[in-house]
Amino acid sequence: MSEGTYVGAIDQGTTGTRFMVFDHGGGVVASAYEKHEQYYPEPGWVEHDPMEIWENTKSVIADALDSAGIDATRLDAIGVTNQRETTLFWDADTHRPIMRAIVWQDRRTTDRIEGLETNGKAETIQAKTGLEPDAYFSATKAEWILDNADPIKLQRSRPQDIRERAADGEVRFGTIDSWLIENLTGNHITDVTNASRTMLFNIHEMDWDDELLEEFRVPRAALPEVRPSSDENLYGTTDADGFLGAEIPVAGALGDQQAALFGQTCFDPGDAKNTYGTGSFFLLNTGEEAVESDHGLLTTIGFQRSGEPVQYALEGSIFVTGAAIEWLEDVELLDNAMESETVARSVDSTDGVYLVPAFTGLGAPHWDGRARGTIVGMTRGTERAHIVRAALESIAYQTRDVAEAMEADAGIDISSLQVDGGAVKNNFLCQLQANIVGTDIVRPEVDETTALGSAYAAGLAVGYWDDPEKLRDNWRIDREFTPDEDASVDGRYERWSEAVERSRDWARE
Ligand code: G3P
Repeated sequence: MSEGTYVGAIDQGTTGTRFMVFDHGGGVVASAYEKHEQYYPEPGWVEHDPMEIWENTKSVIADALDSAGIDATRLDAIGVTNQRETTLFWDADTHRPIMRAIVWQDRRTTDRIEGLETNGKAETIQAKTGLEPDAYFSATKAEWILDNADPIKLQRSRPQDIRERAADGEVRFGTIDSWLIENLTGNHITDVTNASRTMLFNIHEMDWDDELLEEFRVPRAALPEVRPSSDENLYGTTDADGFLGAEIPVAGALGDQQAALFGQTCFDPGDAKNTYGTGSFFLLNTGEEAVESDHGLLTTIGFQRSGEPVQYALEGSIFVTGAAIEWLEDVELLDNAMESETVARSVDSTDGVYLVPAFTGLGAPHWDGRARGTIVGMTRGTERAHIVRAALESIAYQTRDVAEAMEADAGIDISSLQVDGGAVKNNFLCQLQANIVGTDIVRPEVDETTALGSAYAAGLAVGYWDDPEKLRDNWRIDREFTPDEDASVDGRYERWSEAVERSRDWARE
């Protein structure tokens, strides 16, 4: 065990990028964060500028190290974790993106997904990838880019078809992990968890799937090499002549939700966590068994360590939770997210108001790309506080929707749930969550478990940590919220389910 060194983690999320530095005890030594621009070019479309993301990544690394007075040479390894599914292509020579990245929340390919039901491919996709066919995943986004990125508009010297260039290996596909790893190390690599979110990867055979590549017309030559999430062979090292001025091993990567599972040390089958970010993602470790869902959940890859079998997970993906609070800020019902707790507490109930934040369709367990945000039950007496409280309650109700599906699929009784992510600082939300789901809600001391998980993956690969079991000692409870017997939600959950029905199938062409 080396003294005085650390492990860094890049956490590239939907709204911003964080760099965190951890010590052997899993304690946070340094942290810096920067937001990036959200582009909404058409209703239902969401894009990010990959260059801005890379520039922000460099600047948060520099800021975090500067703020703690740590030289980059004291980093034993760097791990990467990222918003998943977000898709881009870049030029293999210049490393310039060919257009902005299409973000996981983007609905522009909903029609294409509906076509898969008609052409009978939906079942094949589910069997091979474990995913419910949806515009959420990368496959239809990649197809859209290859069909629509215009070489003339892109002012290419050779106005050659982008798909043809991809087939020649001149244009590369990647999710955000690959984009960052390529910029950091020069190598075109993704990890198994990110690959499992593309809808192009066979999670049983552990390879890109030729039938799916053909269906979505994505050339294999454009795809990254798939590696374990914690890789003793390293993805590469940073360039000593590059921005960090040091050769640091990049040795771990996980999609952010899988990273949170790892950071919460949910290493064993039956361990579960729920992360509250832009959306909420409830993952249950199912070990070496890829459990198929009959209740609208996804079967996905949880993590893989070098030389060890893949660990699978069941996932309930809720698209909008924290983003509902951001929306309240956008429409000026709140000055800032912190205010949500006080405003919601100022009333005893929502007074019959239900808010279904299906702004980007509904994910698990409903899977309705045409659902849209809905508020029902308003009267002349409805106040701002009722709507704010309804938005917070929607986070808890949506979690109950996936918790029920999880219990039914896995045949278990969830009596306690480990939570993390920005929104769990809100005690009111945590208590509400315990009351509405009827389980204990357990909040750890380090709530940035996403970054911690990718640091663990990278640190285990280089021997900074030698035994995952010992990492459990770093996990400490901050607070536990138990269901309040007096706060009955009888009848309200049924009304919530009716409100969800009203939001469904709203967006037509
Ligand atoms: O699948 C999308 C998810 O990875 C986004 O996570 O934390 O950016 O909301 P987050």
